[in-house]
Amino acid sequence: KKNPVTVTVTGAAGQIGYASVFRVAAGEMLGADTPVRLRLLEIPQGLNGAEGTAMELTDGAFPLLQSVEVTDDPTVGFDGANVALLIGSRPRTKGMERADLLEANGGIFSVQGKAINDYAADDVRVAVVGNPANTNALIAASHAPDVPLERFTALTRLDHHRAVGQLALATGAAVQNIEGVTIWGNHSASQYPDLFHATVDGRAALDVLAEKGLDQSWIEETFIPTVANRGAEIIAVRGGSSVASAAHAALMHVRDWTLGTGERWTSMAVPSDGSYGVPEGLISSFPVRCSGGKYEIIHSFEHSDFSRNKIATSVTELVDEREAVAQLGLLGQR
Ligand code: NAI
Repeated sequence: KKNPVTVTVTGAAGQIGYASVFRVAAGEMLGADTPVRLRLLEIPQGLNGAEGTAMELTDGAFPLLQSVEVTDDPTVGFDGANVALLIGSRPRTKGMERADLLEANGGIFSVQGKAINDYAADDVRVAVVGNPANTNALIAASHAPDVPLERFTALTRLDHHRAVGQLALATGAAVQNIEGVTIWGNHSASQYPDLFHATVDGRAALDVLAEKGLDQSWIEETFIPTVANRGAEIIAVRGGSSVASAAHAALMHVRDWTLGTGERWTSMAVPSDGSYGVPEGLISSFPVRCSGGKYEIIHSFEHSDFSRNKIATSVTELVDEREAVAQLGLLGQR
């Protein structure tokens, strides 16, 4: 057995938190040979819910679960954290202005970034799920100057899975025979799900789609909007937001980051190294491969004008968000 890993989950009493922690305890995130210590971080109103969740975790008698602690104090919640799943955030409510939303979340993620800086383990890895995820990750990172920037990431894995799922449906191929899909940019409706380097059963996805009569107009008018607006569609059909699929994506994001992707690649929102025209330091989605506990942006793509424009549009939105939180004084001194 490996050493135990301390996993801090914020918003643990919420929907995605509840859908995540039992699977973490079962070893689905870090592997069946890694014991976990869970820290459930909530706000005071969420403490009862988190306590109840902790009781159910006890009742699961998970062999890998060494301990569960519930707290509303970030300095306790992140103490010794090796993995931080930042799920809790302030959702947009009716009539709320964008600046109010950014400000409310800025308050949450600056405090958590500072606590991670001061209390987390040296190898801490942060995955932000709470929206606006990319910019929340940027705020947290800016308040954690002692933690290497590359440890702050945001979730676009759900978008990645949605894109793979749609490609599988359209081509009739098995998910496991689909590779090379990428999500670029922001986890928002401006994201760009890119099929131009994807393969289906080892062949170019575009060729396989063409045989089905699906061309560039299908990509532009059906595929991209379906993936980018899937969250709203789930709400309309299910009567509630994406929860289990989001929890699954969060687990797979951390799993690939820590255990590796092999030769496949996946999508993660990570601090830009300046490639593909994405300003350095902006937390934007890229194709990445992971090994040895590290991810690496894949640099080898040539983009068409279509792809370049799509990426630029989403990146512009991220630049605007960064500008807005900077003006609100929410960025720290990294
Ligand atoms: P929820 O409202 O059910 O749960 C959120 C929980 O966070 C609540 O229990 C709340 O008390 C807690 N919380 C709020 N502020 C906190 C703080 N400062 N510290 C600790 N806990 C705090 O929401 P749900 O459905 O679980 O979604 C959580 C977030 O994930 C939302 O922001 C949602 O927009 C986002 N999301 C992101 C996705 C992605 O792909 N990146 C996909 C789906 C949802």
